[in-house]
Parts: sequence; C-alpha cells; structure tokens
Amino acid sequence: MGLLIGRLRLDSTVWQSPMADCTDLPFRLVSRRRGLGFAFTEMVSAKSLLRKSRKTLDILKTRPEDKPLGAQILGGEPASMAEAAAFIEELGFDLVDINCGCPVRKVVSNGDGAALLKDPDRAERIFAAVRRATKLPLTVKMRIGFLDGTGQEAAALARRAEAQGVDAITVHGRTQGQGYGGVSDCSAIALVRRSITIPVIGNGDVRSWEDARRLRSATGCAGVMIGRGGLGNPWLYREIEEERPARISLEERKEALLEHFDLEVECQGERQAALNIRRIGAWYVAGLHGAKQLRVALCRSQDCRTARQLIVDFFGTQSMIAVRN
Ligand SMILES: Cc1cc2nc3c(=O)[nH]c(=O)nc-3n(C[C@H](O)[C@H](O)[C@H](O)COP(=O)(O)O)c2cc1C
Repeated sequence: MGLLIGRLRLDSTVWQSPMADCTDLPFRLVSRRRGLGFAFTEMVSAKSLLRKSRKTLDILKTRPEDKPLGAQILGGEPASMAEAAAFIEELGFDLVDINCGCPVRKVVSNGDGAALLKDPDRAERIFAAVRRATKLPLTVKMRIGFLDGTGQEAAALARRAEAQGVDAITVHGRTQGQGYGGVSDCSAIALVRRSITIPVIGNGDVRSWEDARRLRSATGCAGVMIGRGGLGNPWLYREIEEERPARISLEERKEALLEHFDLEVECQGERQAALNIRRIGAWYVAGLHGAKQLRVALCRSQDCRTARQLIVDFFGTQSMIAVRN
C-alpha cells in the first residue's frame, strides 16, 4: 500500500506530523530507523526563512537518510509564502506544506496558521501563489474549523485548495478553539474527505494501530498522520502498518532513548541536548514505575553526563517487560 502525492510516491500511508520543538532531526532519525516512512520538519515561518534566520535554517537541517521529507511553512502573505516555498524546493525537500492549523494566539492574531480558516479568500491567494512558485508536491494541513466543529469550514477551504492545484490535504479533527484538548472528531474529517477528490490524511488522537484503524474506517482517509503519539514511541508507525501491537522490551526502550539522546548531542550540541533531554526523557518513560522521579531528576541535572547516568540507572531498576499500547 502506498500513496501518490503529486509526483511523490510514498511507500507508507502513516506520516509523522510536523511538531515544533519535537520532530527535529534526531527525533526523525530514531523514528525512521524503527519504521517511520514520511516525516515533516517543525514548522518554519516564511518570513524568518527569507531573512535566513539561523534558528530557522537549523530547524531545516537534515541528512541523506532523513528522506522522504516535507517542510512546513507558516505565514499569511501570498508573496512571502511563495518565495519561501521556492527556497524549500532549492534546499532539496520532497514536499512543501502550508500551515492552516496553528492555534497559538500570537500566530493567529498575525493572520497566520488557523486564522486562514476564517479568511478563505486570502488563503486561496496563498495556495495559488505557492502553487505557481514551486513544482514540489504541495499539501495543506488544516483544522476542521476555527470555532465551528462541523467540518464545513475545512471542507470549503479544502475545495479551494484543490481548485488551486494542491495535491493533498491533512485534517486535524479539532477546531482552533479546542487547542490540543478534547477529542479529535472523525465525522468532521470525513466531511472534508467527501468534499474533495485529492487524498486526505486524517490526524488526531492516533496512539495505537487500533486508533489508526478506527480513523481510517470512520473517514475513508488515504492515510493517517501521527502527532503526539509518536513522541517516545518510534515503534508506532510499524505497529500501524502491521496492524498488531508492538511489544517493546525495556532494553529496546532504553536503547532508543539513549540513541535519541546521543543524536541530540551530535546535532544540537551538549548545552541544548542537556535541556532537550528533560522533555525527551519524559516521553520515553511515561507510564513506567518511577517516571515522575526521573523527570524531576532530569530537570535538575545540568549536563549530559549526569542526565545519561540518570537514565541508565532508571532502566537498571526496572524489571518488568513494558508493553506499550
Ligand atoms: C508541541 C506541539 C507542537 C506542534 N507543532 C506543530 C507544527 O509545527 N505544525 C503543525 O502543523 N502542527 C503542529 N502541532 C499539531 C500536531 O502536528 C497535530 O496536528 C496535533 O497534535 C494533533 O494530533 P495528535 O492528537 O495525534 O497529537 C503541534 C502539536 C504539539 C502538541
């Protein structure tokens, strides 16, 4: 089973979503080595990209084995979004995605992200300008609506996207107003799916192969996109592809976490890795005995050597086989 997005043929129908401060290069490498087939960078602001901001260019860092890879751009102006998309193509990415879902107040008040759901005329001008600027496969990631949870807003926006030559749509089954709370609504995603003919990828609350199966059967979506479920669970993509629970031993969990940590040091440097491991460590040990104490200890540790030892000691004291569900 695969997916054709514009000219891009993907073997996998299980994608990892873009997630700011989460889906960086180390995250993607650890996940790809365990079955992830298609991923995105964290979102980048079109304007920061055009200014060649150091931080933004760092977000786009990749490696030959980190492929196929999409980049997501955020912005509200057709001209800068088009220019940013052309730059993404020059950088060698396989796909470009337009963010129509970010709910953060600062972003929305700028007219970017989910604000585009409320301004479909401007959104359509962005789709058209980006389409003209790049030959890359083009996708749009949107929420089901701004405040209206029926899916009508997203369906209307998706129809405009299709008319402008967008190749696929990803729909997260929450409104902007919901943020990341409440439950993702499959029926609103299904409405979008029925409104257009290009592929729709469903997103929201997929944490197991059963969740993915439910989402697919309720919506008829061509693929599923994993969000938070992929954090600390790089085995989830294969679990969904194979439709059976991944049984992950403590040793495998420890190895994946230490590998992730080492890659953070390699890619982000010791100082940043010592900070990032506080968050990353928490993902991998969630649900295990003593996880809270480890989180607290990692937050107090100041350097990578101490943090690494805390992790090794933590797993040393665990004896039961962890079964992730
Ligand atoms: C910390 C965090 C960062 C996120 N960053 C982005 C982003 O950069 N671009 C984007 O389109 N969505 C972003 N999202 C939304 C996720 O990609 C996804 O759509 C959402 O979490 C719903 O999926 P889930 O319920 O499986 O987590 C972010 C979500 C979280 C929790």
